[in-house]
Amino acid sequence: MDTVLSGIRSTGHLHLGNYFGALKNFVKIQDDYRCFFFIADLHSLTTHPHPDDFHSSVRTILAEYLAAGLDPEKSAIYIQSDVPEISELYVLLNMISYVGELERTVTFKEKVRQNPNNVNAGLLTYPVLMASDILIHRAQWVPVGKDQEQHLELARVFARRFNNMYGADIFPEPHNLVFTGGAVKVPGLDGSGKMGKSNGNGIYLYDDEKTITKKVMKAVTDSGPTEPDSPMPEVIANLFTLLGLVSDRSTVDYFTEKWNDCSIRYGDLKKQLAADICKVTLPIRERIDAIYNDESYLSEVVASGREKARASAAATLALVKQAVGFKAF
Ligand code: ADP
Ligand code: TRP
Repeated sequence: MDTVLSGIRSTGHLHLGNYFGALKNFVKIQDDYRCFFFIADLHSLTTHPHPDDFHSSVRTILAEYLAAGLDPEKSAIYIQSDVPEISELYVLLNMISYVGELERTVTFKEKVRQNPNNVNAGLLTYPVLMASDILIHRAQWVPVGKDQEQHLELARVFARRFNNMYGADIFPEPHNLVFTGGAVKVPGLDGSGKMGKSNGNGIYLYDDEKTITKKVMKAVTDSGPTEPDSPMPEVIANLFTLLGLVSDRSTVDYFTEKWNDCSIRYGDLKKQLAADICKVTLPIRERIDAIYNDESYLSEVVASGREKARASAAATLALVKQAVGFKAF
C-alpha cells in the first residue's frame, strides 16, 4: 500500500477552499492508502507566534480536521513536534542541502521581501524540514497546491541525492497526488478568483449561520442578464461554482434555467446558496466545538498518532543512520 502524507499549517481556520480543495479528498482516500496527516507546528515557528497562542492554534486545526472527517482509527494524525525523528532527519538532510538552492526557492524570496527583518535560518531551511516530514515515512504521495510544488521538487532532489551519496535505496521520490476529477478551485465571493485566507474572502467551516449568510448576501454580482442564454460573467459563474459544490443538481438546474431565461433574482440565488453552505458546514461546526472541548479524546488521538508516526519514523531513521555511518559503541 502506498503512503500519502500531508502537512497542515497550524494557523487560522479552515475555509471552504481547504475543505473542497483538499480535506474532503483526504477523507476519501483514508481506506486506500497508508495515510499520515500532521500539524506542522515547528514550521509555524518561523513567524514567531506568541507562546500563549501556540498550543491553541494547533488544537483548533486538529479539532477542525477531525470534525471534517479525518479518522484517527484509519490514519496517523499527529503533531510534528511529537516526532523527534523528524528533527533528527532534518539535521542530517541539512548537511546535503545547499544554501544556493534554498536561496533560490520562490517562497523564501517572497518571505524575504515581505519580512526583511525576520530572515531566520529556519525560513531558509523550511524546505529541508518539509522534506524530512515526507521522507521520514518514505511517502510516495503528497497532495499539495501550486505554491508548495517547488518544495516537493526539493524533497525529490534531497531523496535522490541522499540515495546517491550513500549508495542506499532508502527514499522513494515523492510526487504530488492530484485527485481524480482534477483540482477544484473554490472561488471567493468578491469576484477575485480563489478563496484564500490571505485574500480575506474566506467562508470558514467555523463561521456561524449569521456570518455565512452575511458573507454570501454581500457577494459581488452584476446587473443581471439582458439576453437569453448569454455567457456568464466570472462573478456570477463563481456563485454557480459554489452552488455546484454544496447544492443538489435540481437546485443548480433551477437557477441555471432562471439565468438562461433572464428571470434570475440574485437575492434568491444567494439565499439558497447560504442555506446550502450552512447545511454542509453547521454540522461540522458543531463537531468542532465538541471535539475542541473534549480534552481526553484529543489527547488519545494525539497519543495514538504519535505512536504510529514514531514507529514508522524510527524505522526510516535507523536505515538512514546506518547508511551515513553511525555505529553504536
Ligand atoms: P490559503 O490559500 O487560504 O492560505 P492554504 O494554502 O493553507 O490556503 O491551503 C491548503 C490547501 O487547501 C491547498 O494546498 C489546496 O489544496 C487547498 N485550497 C486552498 N484554497 C483553495 C481554493 N480556493 N480552492 C481549492 N483548493 C484550495
Ligand atoms: N509547507 C506546507 C504548507 O505551507 C505545510 C507542510 C509542512 C507540508 N510539511 C509538509 C505539506 C509536508 C506537505 C508535506 O502548506
